[in-house]
Amino acid sequence: MDTKEEKIESLEHRVLNCTRCHLSRTRNNVIFGEGNLNAGIMLIGEAPGREEDNQGRPFVGLSGQLLDKILAACGFTRNEHVFISNIVKCRPPGNRVPTSDEASVCMPWLMMQIEIICPQILVLLGSTALKYMAGADYRITRDHGKWISIKDLSAMPVYHPAALLRDPSLKRDTWEDF
Ligand code: URA
Ligand code: SF4
Ligand code: URA
Repeated sequence: MDTKEEKIESLEHRVLNCTRCHLSRTRNNVIFGEGNLNAGIMLIGEAPGREEDNQGRPFVGLSGQLLDKILAACGFTRNEHVFISNIVKCRPPGNRVPTSDEASVCMPWLMMQIEIICPQILVLLGSTALKYMAGADYRITRDHGKWISIKDLSAMPVYHPAALLRDPSLKRDTWEDF
């Protein structure tokens, strides 16, 4: 029986070589995700942006800096208390929202990550994560801050950090949701 570390390493190797969708042709890096494999909390974003595509790490641009501050306000760090991943692992050109085809082709990788890491809580960062994890009937503006069940996990939808950068008045809600 492989350890969790071995399972994630072998999954990471497969994801880093993935060419299942056309985003593989324009990416510089596949962004697998990072954090503590034994964390009880998994954060799920939308898709890598330019900075992430350059560095090969999730949430390292402006949104990521804000996310780190939000985590710090909860007494958390990304290396210790959470694992961070995305619905789609390669950058959509121009940072457009991933298409539903791209999401459905890529999401089996995320499901395997969730299965291996086995967190207690999913934090859904923004409308794309909410839509693909919970379903198209959910709305981030209405449903942020409310627990929802996804299979046997509890999930908490929150605004995406990029939404907070565009509209700082959403920060107060986000503080409460976290
Ligand atoms: N936005 C996301 O949704 N994910 C990242 O990794 C970076 C920015
Ligand atoms: Fe593979 Fe996902 Fe990258 Fe598409 S976005 S190539 S499915 S890892
Ligand atoms: N709009 C988005 O795209 N995401 C949010 O989190 C909130 C509003």
